[in-house]
Amino acid sequence: MSTLASAAEAADRLSPNLDPWSLARELSGSHLIGGKLVPAASGRTFEVRYPATLEKVGEAAYGEAEDVAAAVEAAATAQKAWARTPARERGRLVGACARLLEAHKEELARLMALETGKALRTESRVEAGVLADAFAFFGGLASELKGETVPFSPDMMTMTVREPIGVVGAIIPWNVPMMLMAYKIAPALVAGNAVVVKSAEEAPFAVLRVCQLMNQVLPAGLFNILSGYGPECGQPLVTHPKVGKISFTGSVETGRLIYKAAADKLIPVTLELGGKSPMIVMADADLDKAVAGAVSGMRFTRQGQSCTAASRIYVQAAVHDRFVEAVKAKVDALVMGDPLDEKTDIGTIVSLQQFDRVTGYIDRGRSEGGRAHECSALPAGDAKLKEGYFVRPVIFTDLPRDSRLIREEIFGPVTCVVKFDGFEEALEQANDSEYGLAATIWTKDLKTGLDGARRLEAGFVQVNQNLVVMPNLSYGGVKASGLGKEATLEAMLEHFTHKKTIIVNLE
Ligand code: NAI
Ligand code: MG
Repeated sequence: MSTLASAAEAADRLSPNLDPWSLARELSGSHLIGGKLVPAASGRTFEVRYPATLEKVGEAAYGEAEDVAAAVEAAATAQKAWARTPARERGRLVGACARLLEAHKEELARLMALETGKALRTESRVEAGVLADAFAFFGGLASELKGETVPFSPDMMTMTVREPIGVVGAIIPWNVPMMLMAYKIAPALVAGNAVVVKSAEEAPFAVLRVCQLMNQVLPAGLFNILSGYGPECGQPLVTHPKVGKISFTGSVETGRLIYKAAADKLIPVTLELGGKSPMIVMADADLDKAVAGAVSGMRFTRQGQSCTAASRIYVQAAVHDRFVEAVKAKVDALVMGDPLDEKTDIGTIVSLQQFDRVTGYIDRGRSEGGRAHECSALPAGDAKLKEGYFVRPVIFTDLPRDSRLIREEIFGPVTCVVKFDGFEEALEQANDSEYGLAATIWTKDLKTGLDGARRLEAGFVQVNQNLVVMPNLSYGGVKASGLGKEATLEAMLEHFTHKKTIIVNLE
C-alpha cells in the first residue's frame, strides 16, 4: 500500500472541539500554508466578532502578497506529485476527507454560527451536515477523468487526455463558506490540481478548520488557505503568475474586477455572482406549498443572505392577498434570537456593512411608498443581544415597478411581492432583470409549468419546489449572475482540467 493510501486510513488526530469560542481562539492568527498553521508574514491580524453580541471571537491572520506567494509556491510544489498520483487514489483521499468532515460536523456548525451569526439549528448545522457529501461525490468521480480516441487516420493514433491546470485560486464569500469552498476545492483536487483558497474576512475560522481536518489525509501544501481582505489578499492571488485558474463566488462588482485581472493573464475564471431570483405563483398553485416554498426559498432563516433567495415574488391577483398574509404568518412564527441557542430560527446579519446595506434598502422601500409587512420579533430579554445585527424580516408589497428593491440584490431578509394578472406579464417581469441565477414557478398546470421553466432566463429553474443546490445538479447563472457551472462532473472536467490532444504517427 502506498504512503498516500495509508494516510487515507489515518486516525483523526484532532478531536472535535464543541466549544466554538475556544476553537476560534485556537485557530486565531493562522493561515494554513504547506500543511502547517502559520502566522501572516507581517505578523498582522484582524478581529472577528460574534454578530449577535459584537464580542470578540478571535483574530484572523492578515493575508497579503507575501503570504499569497508562499501559499502558491507550496501549492505548485505539491501539485507535481499529486498530478502523478493515480486518479482513483486522489478520489479515495478526497473521499476520506468526507469521513473526517462528517465526524466533525457539530463543531464546524457551532464555529460557523459563531462567526457568521447564522442560526445553529436551522442553518449552520444544515451547512455542516451536507459538507461531507460534496467531498464524497467528487471523490467518486475520479475515474471519470477520461479521454477519447479519435478515428482521424489509420496512420495515426489520435487521442485526448484530461490534464490538471496546476494551481487553482478559490475566492469565497461568507454566506455558505464551507459548502461554496467544497464545490470548488473538491473537484479541483480530484482533477489533480493544487489549491489556494482566500476566505472571506467575515468568516475565516470554520473554513480554516475544514482545511486543517483535510490536511490530516491529504499531502502537505496541496491546498492552502489564507484569510484576508479582498484588495490585499484576493487581488494578489488572482494576479500571481503561477495561478492558472480562479474560481470565485461573491458580488458582481468584485466578479468584474477578477474577470478583468484574469483577462490580463489570459486565465480562465468561474464566477458565481448572485441573483435576484423570481418566483411566479399562479392562481391555480397549491397555495400551502407555494407559501412554504416562499419562506424556505427566501432563506428567511439565513436572514435572506443567499444568492438564490426568492427575493421577487410575482403572485397572480386572485391569490395575492391570501398569499401575502400566509407568508407573513409563517415568518412571524419564526423565532429570532441568539444564533447559538437551539430555540432560534433566525440569527443575525453577518456584519455592520451588510446590516447598513439591508436596512438602507428597507428605508428606501418605505420612502418609495412600498408597504412593509414586518415579521417576527427582535430578541427581547437578553441585554447582550442589543448590539447584534438583527433585522426583522420584511415582505414588501405595493412597490413601484421600477423600484431598486425589485431590481437589485439586497442579500437580506427582504422580499418584494408583486401582483400580476396574466402569465405572459409575469414572465416578462421575471425576465426583466440583469440577473439570471435561479427561478421557480408554482402551478398545477403542467403545460404552464413547463412553458415557464423553458422561458425563464435563469441557470437553475424549479417547478413547485424551491430546493437548494446539491451535488450532481448543475448550478450557476446566466446574464450578470456569472460564468460557468459548479457541482457536477461536467463542471470538474470543464473548469479544472485542460483537454490535450496527442497524435502518434504510426507510419
Ligand atoms: P465581495 O464580492 O466583495 O466578497 C466576496 C469575496 O471576494 C471575499 O472573499 C472578498 O474578500 C473577496 N474580494 C473582495 N474584493 C476583492 C478583490 N478586489 N480581489 C479579489 N477578491 C476580492 O462581497 P461582499 O462585500 O462580501 O458582499 C457585497 C454583496 O455581494 C452582498 O450584499 C451580496 O449582494 C453580494 N454577495 C453575493 C454572494 C453570492 O453568493 N453570490 C456572496 C456574498 C456577497
Ligand atoms: Mg466587498
